[in-house]
Amino acid sequence: MTRLHRRTFLVGGLAAAGAPLIGATPANALAYPFTLGVASGEPTADGFVLWTRLAPRPLNADGLGGMPNTPVTVEWQVGLDQAFSQLAASGSATAVQASAHTVHVEVAGLQPDREYWYRFRADGHISQVGRARTAPALGSGSALTMAFASCAHYETGYYTAYRRMAEDRPDLILHLGDYIYEGAAATDRVRTHSPSAEITNLANYRVRHALYKMDVDLQAAHAAAPWLVVWDDHEVENNYANLVRQEGQAPAGDFRARREAAYRAYYEHMPLRSAQSPVRENMQLYRRVNWGGLATFHMLDTRQYRSDQACGDGSQNCPEADAPTRSLTGNAQEQWLLDGMGQKFGTWDIIGQQVFFAQRLAADGKRSMDAWDGYTANRKRIQDGWQARGNTSTVVLTGDVHRSWAANLMNNYTTQDKVIGTELVTTSISSDGDGDASHTGVTPTNPHVKFYKNLRGYVRTSITPTRMNVDYRAVDKVSVRDMPVKTVQSYVIEAGNPGLQAP
Ligand SMILES: [Fe+2]
Repeated sequence: MTRLHRRTFLVGGLAAAGAPLIGATPANALAYPFTLGVASGEPTADGFVLWTRLAPRPLNADGLGGMPNTPVTVEWQVGLDQAFSQLAASGSATAVQASAHTVHVEVAGLQPDREYWYRFRADGHISQVGRARTAPALGSGSALTMAFASCAHYETGYYTAYRRMAEDRPDLILHLGDYIYEGAAATDRVRTHSPSAEITNLANYRVRHALYKMDVDLQAAHAAAPWLVVWDDHEVENNYANLVRQEGQAPAGDFRARREAAYRAYYEHMPLRSAQSPVRENMQLYRRVNWGGLATFHMLDTRQYRSDQACGDGSQNCPEADAPTRSLTGNAQEQWLLDGMGQKFGTWDIIGQQVFFAQRLAADGKRSMDAWDGYTANRKRIQDGWQARGNTSTVVLTGDVHRSWAANLMNNYTTQDKVIGTELVTTSISSDGDGDASHTGVTPTNPHVKFYKNLRGYVRTSITPTRMNVDYRAVDKVSVRDMPVKTVQSYVIEAGNPGLQAP
């Protein structure tokens, strides 16, 4: 058993002349720095990433969290139990101002398929305790409870759905994008963005991430389980495509710099591995995570490499959307996805991504140019590719549209030829505010689309080698705090038999 002892950090030798000296004063020279909580992510069979950030004044306009320009030692512990009476691992990291005093620790050497607890200490302060979990070893794994979420606009609602997701105590949480929103503050909503202007530079992106992470319900969800995160558009700017700004915005020469700032702040605030650390305006976010022999998570990036939206974006009747040269994933990511689906380490191939995957036609035949309907050749190559490889337990997870949907994926959407996979679309955590449970989106134009609900919430899945149980979870309101959650729809998906079935 190892115990950490309380001591004063001595880092004076690292401090530049004139800079404040932490360590030259007694412990607790800093105000409480763990204001943004703790997080874990990227589980493997022998470890995970631990994350925190030191930010005693998280909303300071310079984006530096009220920290002096001094490296600070941050000790971390991984315990076998919640009381930390036995440690499985421990160590220390150095938090520096260049990365806004964020900490990413890649823990290895742990046992597969078990839960752990972790905490940090810096300058005499001890963080909240988080719960993490390792994946099963390859070839094993009998059960996984996984929840997924997206779209958490801070101003339009409280994060009750994050809180309820934490209370379900899942083994793993996926976040499919729109973790933050970039827009300016509005005055008529349940709470208000900081900074007040639209965020475009590194300091502002850092402050916005800090504002979101100050929310205790979001902190609870991070502390409950390891996360796998991918972004959508609002982590940078609405509906951007690669280096093309959203329609109607001037092709400003500095969008490359803006994307660099946004990606950097995103990396800093997420429990990601150093393999995902950005290089200028580029960041390797698409990646695979194996959950033993049970499931493979193929996490996609559908923003960084995409062709610009066809026909001016929006909902269109647009033949150009079907051009074979157009791509949502980029060619390299498309090939990487199909290569990975050919590996078959796990029974289930779970594709975590952002935008609506199945065909979805409006009554007038128009379709969303920002979703896969705007990149149909890319979608067909991927669907044909997994069929050619014999993948019969493919489930696509989607965010973005702020509504719950469920759909069968079809070999041919026009002729409704054969079900080849299943799509589960989570509603938003808070974006668009309170819903309207009476509204329906299931229409005869899309016979393969089976379910729609306009309430805020998340999706909970329970996965075994033979079946996936799916619960759509929703709260009636996000304009008031602490609403209860309820299951508004359930499905079963059988391994080897794609498509939605009644539970
Ligand atoms: Fe969104």
